[in-house]
Order: sequence, then structure tokens, then C-alpha cells
Amino acid sequence: MDIVLVGPGRAGTSLAIAVEDAGHRLLGVLGRDPARAGEAASRFGCPVLEWDRDLPAADLLLIAVRDDAIGEVAARLGGHAPGTGGAVHLSGLTPVDALAAIGDLPLGSFHPLQTLPNPENGAARLAGAWIAVTSEDDLLADRLFALAASIGAHPFEVADEAKPLYHAAAAAAANFPLAAWSMARRLFEAAGVPFEVAGPLVQAVLDNAFTLGPEAALTGPVARGDVGTVAAQLAAVRGAVPDLEEDFAAMVVAVARVAGTLDEIGPALA
Ligand SMILES: NC(=O)c1ccc[n+]([C@@H]2O[C@H](COP(=O)([O-])OP(=O)(O)OC[C@H]3O[C@@H](n4cnc5c(N)ncnc54)[C@H](OP(=O)(O)O)[C@@H]3O)[C@@H](O)[C@H]2O)c1
Repeated sequence: MDIVLVGPGRAGTSLAIAVEDAGHRLLGVLGRDPARAGEAASRFGCPVLEWDRDLPAADLLLIAVRDDAIGEVAARLGGHAPGTGGAVHLSGLTPVDALAAIGDLPLGSFHPLQTLPNPENGAARLAGAWIAVTSEDDLLADRLFALAASIGAHPFEVADEAKPLYHAAAAAAANFPLAAWSMARRLFEAAGVPFEVAGPLVQAVLDNAFTLGPEAALTGPVARGDVGTVAAQLAAVRGAVPDLEEDFAAMVVAVARVAGTLDEIGPALA
């Protein structure tokens, strides 16, 4: 595919590196910050494009700006994408019609379900990642599936109206465990134990979550309904790191709901 990148940030540049490595071609880079656009363009050996000028005719316009700017950027590109085969944004939340002001061309979204903290790390992590494709245009959807497969990613379809829920699920999967691990790190350290000892345990839990399912993977005192142990843990947290008590108790409730032991665990929380 011939591709134009709009917004050479973390996600856009990660994806551009991956697609270029897969044999696609970057026709140009359009950015807000001329220095950053120039850096990306020289990496891909393509020109820096100018706002308010017609874009070169590409198969795909990759609009990789932050979610809040998608509508504004689409409006700015309106009428300047003659001969472009289709346009996508990369947001897992934003509806496809945020791009409507670009004009009469097939529109969609292409959301890598992966963390892309910088271009090199991000590009490497796209191989093997899953990518959510949303488009009512069957031909564009097929092309986006093929684009994802060409970089070694796994495409899947998400309906436009399901995107907010899908995005909430992604946040629960990727962000919520980090809050638990941050709590665990502080508690380990308060006990004089380095956080790294939890690595193999956490890795096994992660593997089990995807082989057995999160519910069947659950072990520990809350899952067993071991009230005395949970009460002792809560007292220890209260004594050593009191500012974590509320969150620890909330996590106990969340785990007990999954395990179906909330009635048994209730007295420990009281
Ligand atoms: N990074 C991830 O892990 C990840 C993963 C999946 C999907 N995404 C999606 O990818 C998209 C971009 O996210 P990101 O993490 O790559 O953000 P980012 O690193 O902040 O990059 C955003 C890019 O958009 C440009 N931009 C922002 N506001 C603009 C405006 N009003 N007009 C023109 N350009 C503007 C920025 O320009 P400046 O350089 O001038 O700031 C930058 O080039 C978002 O839709 C996000 O949801 C991100």
C-alpha cells in the first residue's frame, strides 16, 4: 500500500515503521511540529507534506493524532485528499465518523491493541499484537485486515457502537493489573522483600489467565473463603501502609465477587 502518515507520534511512527518493514511505502508525513515531521519523513525517505495543500494520492491515510484532535484534523484535511483510497484513525474509542469531514472516501479505524511507548519498541511489539478494525466499507475492511496481517498482527472486527465498551475492556486488561502491582510493590517493600520476587508468580498467573480463564486461575485466601487469613492481611496493611488499606479492601471485594465468596469474606472486611 502507498500510505500517508498524519501525526508522527508514538503510535503513528510505530505503525509506519512496521508497515514500511513489511514492504509498504510511505508517500509523505504531515505533522503539527515541523521538526518532528521532518525527522519522521527522513526516517522513511519521503517528503514532509504541508497542511492546506492536496495530499499525494495514497491507498491509505493513517490519521494518528490524539483522540481529541481527530475531528479537527479531519476537517482541516477536508477536500485535500483527492484520489485517496481510504482513511483511518487509530483510536479504540472514537467513532469512525469523527473522520467524516475529510470527504467522500471509505473511512475506518485501525486500533492496535498494544502499548506503543516509542516508535522502535512499538514497531517491534506490533508483530503478534491484535488490531481492531472498524469500517462499514467492506473493501477497506478487507484491505485493513490484509495490512494488519502483513505486519504479523492479528486483525479482528469491532463494531463502531461497541468501541467504548471494547476500550473499557482494554483499559481493564492493561491498566488495572498495574494498579494492583503498584500496591504489591509497596507492600513487598514495606515487608523488606524486593518486588522482583513476584515475577515468576505474576508470570504464571498471567499464563493461567489465558489458558484456564481468569476465574479458574484464581487462587489464594479470598478464593478459598479463608476469612482469618484475609483479616490478618488487612490488619497488616492497615498497620504498615495505612494509605493502601482502602484500595486493598476494595481489591478483596472485587476478587471475592469473581470467586463468589463475598458473603464469607464480608466479616473480614468489617
Ligand atoms: N501509543 C499507544 O500505545 C497507542 C496504542 C493504540 C492506539 N493509539 C492511538 O493512536 C493515536 C495517537 O496516539 P499516540 O500515543 O501516538 O499520541 P502522541 O504520541 O501524542 O502522538 C500524537 C500525534 O498527533 C499530533 N497532534 C496532536 N494534536 C494535533 C492537532 N491538533 N493537529 C495536528 N496534529 C496533532 C501530535 O503532534 P505533536 O508532535 O506536535 O504533538 C503527534 O504527532 C490516538 O488515537 C491513540 O488512541 C495509541
